[in-house]
Amino acid sequence: MILVGKEEKSFFSEEQIRILYTLANQASISIQRLQSLLAKEQTRVETAIESMREGVILLDKTRHITAINPRARELLPFLTSTDKDVYREFGGVKIEDIIRLTKAGRHQEIVIQGPPKRIVEVTASFFGKDEGVVVVVDDVTEEREAQRRIEQQERLATIGQLAGGIAHDFNNLLTSIIGFAQLGLMKLGTAHPLRKDLEIIISQGQRASELIRQILDFSRRSITEKKPLNLSSFLKETMKLLRRTLPENILIHWEIQPGDYTVLADPTHIQQLIMNLATNARDAMPNGGTLTFHLKKVLLSKEDVQSYIGLSPGEYVMLKVEDTGCGMNDEVKKHAFEPFFTTKSPGKGTGLGLSQVYGIVKQHNGHIYLESEVGRGTQVIIYLPFFKKGEKIPRADILNIPKGEGQKILLVEDEELVREVGQNMLEKLGYRVLAASNAKEALQIFNSHQGEISLVITDMVMPNMSGGDLYRELNRISPGVKVLLVSGYSLGDEIKKLKAEGVIDYLQKPFQLEVLARKVYEALSVK
Ligand SMILES: Nc1ncnc2c1ncn2[C@@H]1O[C@H](COP(=O)(O)OP(=O)(O)OP(=O)(O)O)[C@@H](O)[C@H]1O
Ligand SMILES: [Mg+2]
Repeated sequence: MILVGKEEKSFFSEEQIRILYTLANQASISIQRLQSLLAKEQTRVETAIESMREGVILLDKTRHITAINPRARELLPFLTSTDKDVYREFGGVKIEDIIRLTKAGRHQEIVIQGPPKRIVEVTASFFGKDEGVVVVVDDVTEEREAQRRIEQQERLATIGQLAGGIAHDFNNLLTSIIGFAQLGLMKLGTAHPLRKDLEIIISQGQRASELIRQILDFSRRSITEKKPLNLSSFLKETMKLLRRTLPENILIHWEIQPGDYTVLADPTHIQQLIMNLATNARDAMPNGGTLTFHLKKVLLSKEDVQSYIGLSPGEYVMLKVEDTGCGMNDEVKKHAFEPFFTTKSPGKGTGLGLSQVYGIVKQHNGHIYLESEVGRGTQVIIYLPFFKKGEKIPRADILNIPKGEGQKILLVEDEELVREVGQNMLEKLGYRVLAASNAKEALQIFNSHQGEISLVITDMVMPNMSGGDLYRELNRISPGVKVLLVSGYSLGDEIKKLKAEGVIDYLQKPFQLEVLARKVYEALSVK
């Protein structure tokens, strides 16, 4: 309102009144305009704040909330904006300290114990003249989670490499320890007092082998034989086995939507995976509970696979194993896949179960992760690539040890048992085997199968004629014949000499399938 006055009567001329009137009118219009502009500006700012991805909170000098956007309410559900509520800190950190950090170009990280649990980054700065503060909150839970996953994968890969190397060597050692103990046992009479000792060596050795196998699985060094496998029928079959092994107070459910769930997998490994997960669930539910298997087909896009490290976009079969057990805290979750990590008392668990599962999933080009909450239960989520009917099976996936294609191999070994084992292994690898128990017999067979035999594998130490001499004789009959020598002892110089004469390679007894497969394959590849 504008008042212009003078006590004197008729002080203003009509003209002046008219001007004043117009001026007042103009002023009022301008003010109105300004007001509407201001209101518009305020709505604009409010809408901008409203629609921001970050949470925004405005505080006045007294640290009362004057504005808060929906995102901030979502991220910090404990905030209220009544006159009573004063905010001098966020997540236990003073606003002044956050402001100082922000000035230095950094931010304060605050963990909000949900549920859902969130990690947020908070920045704060003064604004306006009256020391108002604008607080910006950014949700970085996903980012941190992705980062944590990458770090975990890298850590596991490193441990895997380390453990894998050691396990591989131990595996070879154990094979000969067990093999020789078995040979020894066979040489002893049934009543021999040393039998018991040898039997203990064998059974303990086999237990050690089992542990080593779990580590080899974890480090993806084990042999897999993959074939198209329908997970839904396989799972239902395995359930029967599980029902017999799990206590009655554990209910087993499955939720399988109708559909095709074929994956390229090694059935023995998948069964092991299910058993390990079920055992863990059982241990987590000592007073009973429910174990549920979910099976679902999912299509993962490029964006999806970003958080599933190592996967390429496409169709996957998702297997979720869920229990209603004790759950895991963050620390346990962080280390659960590491070999030898266990919370169980000594003798109860070795901490290899989940690491083996992890390795198996990885060896099947899949992805695995855990969702778990203390007191609520655990979900293990596994993605395996879907296998379309008619799709070609990559050769490396059939068997990662080289196999034969029906080539004929002459196996010469005087010890019956070793000969049988060797023949068995070679046949399993896809070769045809002619067996001889001494050099004389070998020469006869070689002569009657001239040109058919691709490789001769002969024991080194045999009565009458040694493996070395047999080689020389064979080489005379058929120059360039391929021969692999076998011995239970290391034959440094002798082997060097024979190799110089043309023997291809040397194999250590007792045979290990993997080594035998590789050496035979390599020998056959030699031109
Ligand atoms: N379903 C689950 N619920 C709660 N905790 C689990 C579950 N599965 C695994 N864990 C935790 O992870 C740890 C590691 O599991 P993992 O299967 O590797 O070893 P383990 O069960 O302790 O021993 P092992 O399997 O070798 O007998 C367990 O000790 C347990 O603390
Ligand atoms: Mg276990």
